[in-house]
Amino acid sequence: MNLEGATAIVTGGCSGLGHATAIKLREAGLNVALFDLNEDLGNQRVSELGTANTIFCQVDVRDEKSVTQALDQVSAEFGDIHLLVNCAGIAPAKRLLDRDGQPAPLESFQKTIDINLVGSFNVARLVAARMALQNPQGEANERGLIVNTASIAGYEGQIGQTAYAASKGGIIGLTLPMARDLAPLGIRVNTIAPGVMGTPMVVAMPEKVQDALTANVQFPKRLGLPAEFAKLVIHMMDNTYMNGETVRLDGAMRMPPK
Ligand SMILES: NC(=O)c1ccc[n+]([C@@H]2O[C@H](COP(=O)([O-])OP(=O)(O)OC[C@H]3O[C@@H](n4cnc5c(N)ncnc54)[C@H](O)[C@@H]3O)[C@@H](O)[C@H]2O)c1
Repeated sequence: MNLEGATAIVTGGCSGLGHATAIKLREAGLNVALFDLNEDLGNQRVSELGTANTIFCQVDVRDEKSVTQALDQVSAEFGDIHLLVNCAGIAPAKRLLDRDGQPAPLESFQKTIDINLVGSFNVARLVAARMALQNPQGEANERGLIVNTASIAGYEGQIGQTAYAASKGGIIGLTLPMARDLAPLGIRVNTIAPGVMGTPMVVAMPEKVQDALTANVQFPKRLGLPAEFAKLVIHMMDNTYMNGETVRLDGAMRMPPK
């Protein structure tokens, strides 16, 4: 798909992997809409990325009304939507039973599933409905691409990650059927499953902690770079034959129990 002049939505686009993706997409000439919760940070990101081609929409990905209003704003500002990158997410850790044998609160599990899994599905379905009405583009007659973010925890969840791993396993599981549902419309769906990435939160940790995090990375022996995640998004957009796939981006890391 032609990148120059296309329009992308990045959920969770104000921080970490979403922010790095927004930067790379702007460099490639796309208009970018950041869907995130934090308005102050959102406005700051827009001024950094360029007010002519970037907008911030205060969105809770779980909420149909807030996503629909934001999509109206994107359509009014930029017209057709060509790319959705679902990066909004949370990663709380809680053991199934705590040290006193008390069960983990159900609300915590539900919230993680709601934001990471239901939220990604919610934005994807509402964006797909708009993409379906657009004119197809290029030799491939393509209408759009949806990129979801899972995690290698979706395959190898660690101790305390039942909720997070279940939410990310859900993302991996829905990738192929979503691609199959949308194939007749010329809309592709792919997922990226990152390993341990050097997002601001992780980079701020003491060196010892970072070394422990990268101990099981094979090569290159370091944190993944948010820009490497963003490069894969660009590749997925560029490579029309890539569809229905989850790609690990982890330096051959396999997560141990803890
Ligand atoms: N950083 C890593 O090492 C890593 C590894 C594997 C997977 N991931 C996944 O990548 C995604 C991004 O992670 P990150 O490290 O960049 O996190 P981050 O905390 O830096 O960014 C997440 C963004 O999502 C936003 N957000 C949270 N809940 C939201 C909601 N309900 N509606 C709208 N926005 C919401 C936050 O405000 C924040 O800006 C997450 O889904 C995470 O699970 C991250």
